[in-house]
Amino acid sequence: MTHSSQPIPGLSQLAEKGYLEIDIDPTLDLEAEIQRLKREKNAVVLAHYYQESEIQDVADFVGDSLQLSQEAARTKADMIAFAGVHFMAETAKILSPEKKVVVPDLKAGCSLADSCPAPVFSKFLEKYPDHVVVSYVNCTAALKTMTDICCTSSNAAHIIRSIPPEKGIVFAPDKNLGAYLEKVTGRSLVKWDGVCIVHEIFSIEKITALKVRYPDAKLIAHPECEEPVLRIADFIGSTSGLLQFVQRDPATEFIVATESGILHQMQLKCPGKTFIPAPPENTCACNECPFMKLNTMEKLYLCMKYEQPEILLPADVIAKARASIDRMLEISAAVGLK
Ligand code: 13P
Ligand code: SF4
Repeated sequence: MTHSSQPIPGLSQLAEKGYLEIDIDPTLDLEAEIQRLKREKNAVVLAHYYQESEIQDVADFVGDSLQLSQEAARTKADMIAFAGVHFMAETAKILSPEKKVVVPDLKAGCSLADSCPAPVFSKFLEKYPDHVVVSYVNCTAALKTMTDICCTSSNAAHIIRSIPPEKGIVFAPDKNLGAYLEKVTGRSLVKWDGVCIVHEIFSIEKITALKVRYPDAKLIAHPECEEPVLRIADFIGSTSGLLQFVQRDPATEFIVATESGILHQMQLKCPGKTFIPAPPENTCACNECPFMKLNTMEKLYLCMKYEQPEILLPADVIAKARASIDRMLEISAAVGLK
């Protein structure tokens, strides 16, 4: 598996743009081409539930952050094309350093990860030398090197409960998830003040109005949402937790307070049920993650064809960051989380 020795068109602009800008024949069947590249290069496409539906449909594996990291750790492919955001692709590289990890767009970042710069966090930690540091996986590789145990929204409560009660805990970077964890575990956490721009935007007034219009609809919410939304939710869970809930619950209407990309899988799995995206405070499409949506089929095809942009991390960062992710995967496996 290697790209040709021909110069890659558009490569000189990669650093500035974040992706290869190369004209593609508009008649090209991108889905068929991506399938062909997978076979040719022994590659897999991993996609987060927040990706556009076409990308989800062409992926070998679609999942939430925890499932994607588990899949990245076990895949036998030579190349991983990661359709998600930067920290997720970094996690895949940390878990499979011998594999080539490529992404459609390097600028697909995350407001939460950006809210916690590693040098500032390092200073912050000086105040809590005896604390266990738990970081939501939505953070940079540099932050993971300062972390004892990572977590995702699927396993965060289990991770917190696994820490001896006498130990103090620093939790970064999401303050909403942190507050939710304090509530469900009864532990008090030193929380970093970060938020996700998508999950903090839901309007409690508009959700309440929707509940009046759809009195039988259940409100389901991701724990990155703010406390007033979580307080009135009928069910709170990670992306995969929400997807499982709508399949097992007898209700037929759901108001969904998370990134709207998950509605695609909900509709596929439950064609007879109605899913209403929870409305944001204004009229923008703010319940779509602008970073996730930077990825397109065209960029996915190009990154697989030219094996660029590639995620590269220094060996010492991989080694240090890996311990925190391995610990998370061990605890998840011990409680049977898949
Ligand atoms: P999960 O995939 O853990 O549900 O997290 C949601 C999210 O915001 C990912 O960026
Ligand atoms: Fe980050 Fe929020 Fe987008 Fe998830 S939805 S990638 S937490 S900005």
